[in-house]
Amino acid sequence: MLSNIPSSLSLLGALLPYLPPTLSHAAPWHPSSYTNVKSQNNTICKPVSFTLTASAQHISLSSPPDPTNSTAILETLNQAWDGTIVTNGTQTVSGTYTLKAIYCQPSSHSKPHKKGKKDKDDDVLQILLHGATYNKTLWSGYGFDYPYDWQSFAASQGYHTLAVDRLSHGDNDAQNLDPLNEVQMPLQTELLHQLISLVKSPPKPKPNTNVTNPTTISLTPSKSNNPLHRTFPKIILVGHSLGSYLSVSLARSYPLDPTALILTGYSHQLNIPHVRSAPYFPAPLVFPTRFPSERYKNGLEYLTIATLEGRTNGFYSNETDAAGRVYDPAVARTDYEYSDATTLGEVVSLGNWGEGAGEFEGPVLVATGRKDWICCSPPEEACVERLWETGRTFPKARRYEVWAPEETGHDLTLEFISARETLRVVHEFLGREV
Ligand SMILES: *[C@@H]1O[C@H](CO)[C@@H](O)[C@H](O)[C@H]1NC(C)=O
Ligand SMILES: *[C@@H]1O[C@H](CO)[C@@H](O)[C@H](O)[C@H]1NC(C)=O
Ligand SMILES: *[C@@H]1O[C@H](CO)[C@@H](O)[C@H](O)[C@H]1NC(C)=O
Ligand SMILES: *[C@@H]1O[C@H](CO)[C@@H](O)[C@H](O)[C@H]1NC(C)=O
Ligand SMILES: *[C@@H]1O[C@H](CO)[C@@H](O)[C@H](O)[C@H]1NC(C)=O
Ligand SMILES: *[C@@H]1O[C@H](CO)[C@@H](O)[C@H](O)[C@H]1NC(C)=O
Repeated sequence: MLSNIPSSLSLLGALLPYLPPTLSHAAPWHPSSYTNVKSQNNTICKPVSFTLTASAQHISLSSPPDPTNSTAILETLNQAWDGTIVTNGTQTVSGTYTLKAIYCQPSSHSKPHKKGKKDKDDDVLQILLHGATYNKTLWSGYGFDYPYDWQSFAASQGYHTLAVDRLSHGDNDAQNLDPLNEVQMPLQTELLHQLISLVKSPPKPKPNTNVTNPTTISLTPSKSNNPLHRTFPKIILVGHSLGSYLSVSLARSYPLDPTALILTGYSHQLNIPHVRSAPYFPAPLVFPTRFPSERYKNGLEYLTIATLEGRTNGFYSNETDAAGRVYDPAVARTDYEYSDATTLGEVVSLGNWGEGAGEFEGPVLVATGRKDWICCSPPEEACVERLWETGRTFPKARRYEVWAPEETGHDLTLEFISARETLRVVHEFLGREV
């Protein structure tokens, strides 16, 4: 199988990992430094781990690729983007899985997320869902702080956040998982539902006005397998790209689970030629030290973007304006060097990407850059209109808003101007609507 690596790619392994010199302006980032990190704003973060049991219906491919043949795997990937995959029925997958996450709490100095409310009963949890070829560290900004560190900023605004690694990504064990048949979006959706069921408070009982027989208020203790040791009355799903798609998939199946949806890097329509043009390649061949074959069953079915140029063109605004670049090249480089993967199963199971969530009644904010070649352009002029059309896929949402920063690519939370503005707009929306 190694004979399938283009010579330019086999060099990559030798060049990596290397720490970009420009990282020196930020705190050096290391996964283990997450044990009770205290940031500038006294945000307390800690790693947590959920053990969840779920089952889902997954598609079976009529002719699945040979898992040791990169060429065949990439052919299947392209068929999936083109919508020409031939399936043969479904299969039930089920099991008990562990999902790792980083939980951050606001400090006592944080401002309440709603003016004049400092009521613990009103606490809100944002669940942060990363995109394809990312993992939960997307939301901590890789050690580059404001405006890239979503978790610290949200904490400063009074929000608890939980950045979750999807099944088989980040710190989650992938050893016994089949990346084609087991790691598909339906199971990812069911696992998210199980996670929400653990951390969401049960609905409040209806006030009983019968004075002769008042309901005794009993606080339900959190379940013993809830590592947060508490529950939240309101859950906000904040997604990026495939994580936004996952948020919508959850809201379609379980419309009462989330209170609000924040969908970044999203629209109801993917720009397939652009998505397809990215140089996808098996992650173990691009980053052999981070994707050792013994840790990944059928490892070639974990796909990532093979080159810095390909990743930057795909995810960042490639234009410069009068004021210079709209993103820090050091961030884009770190993003590439630490990139995660997506599974073939996640891509083949996307189905109708833009189906929306017909029964979801809460507020929805779609935040997508006007130069987001994956979800919104070209033509750039039609981007905002497309984002408003996306609103039709949420027919019952009580509020639907669009935020489309100019000169901004797919990774709007990693481009410095839009990152700042997006944090502000999203938290202003949440303060108003949740
Ligand atoms: C579909 O799956 C069934 C049961 O596994 C198998 O017998 C049949 O040959 C498959 N058909 C195609 C077209 O792959
Ligand atoms: C790998 O798959 C490709 C495309 O399906 C095929 O042409 C090639 O013969 C396969 N290689 C091996 C070694 O099986
Ligand atoms: C800390 O909070 C303040 C507002 O309370 C915010 O302006 C600043 O950016 C925050 N710092 C970080 C690292 O998020
Ligand atoms: C109020 O409580 C009493 C005593 O349990 C019961 O008989 C009555 O039906 C209740 N009334 C209402 C309106 O729930
Ligand atoms: C940016 O990418 C788009 C889409 O691939 C392309 O049409 C455009 O020419 C690129 N702009 C620059 C300055 O490279
Ligand atoms: C998850 O992301 C972090 C930081 O970007 C990186 O160090 C780590 O290797 C990633 N995990 C995998 C499995 O790629």
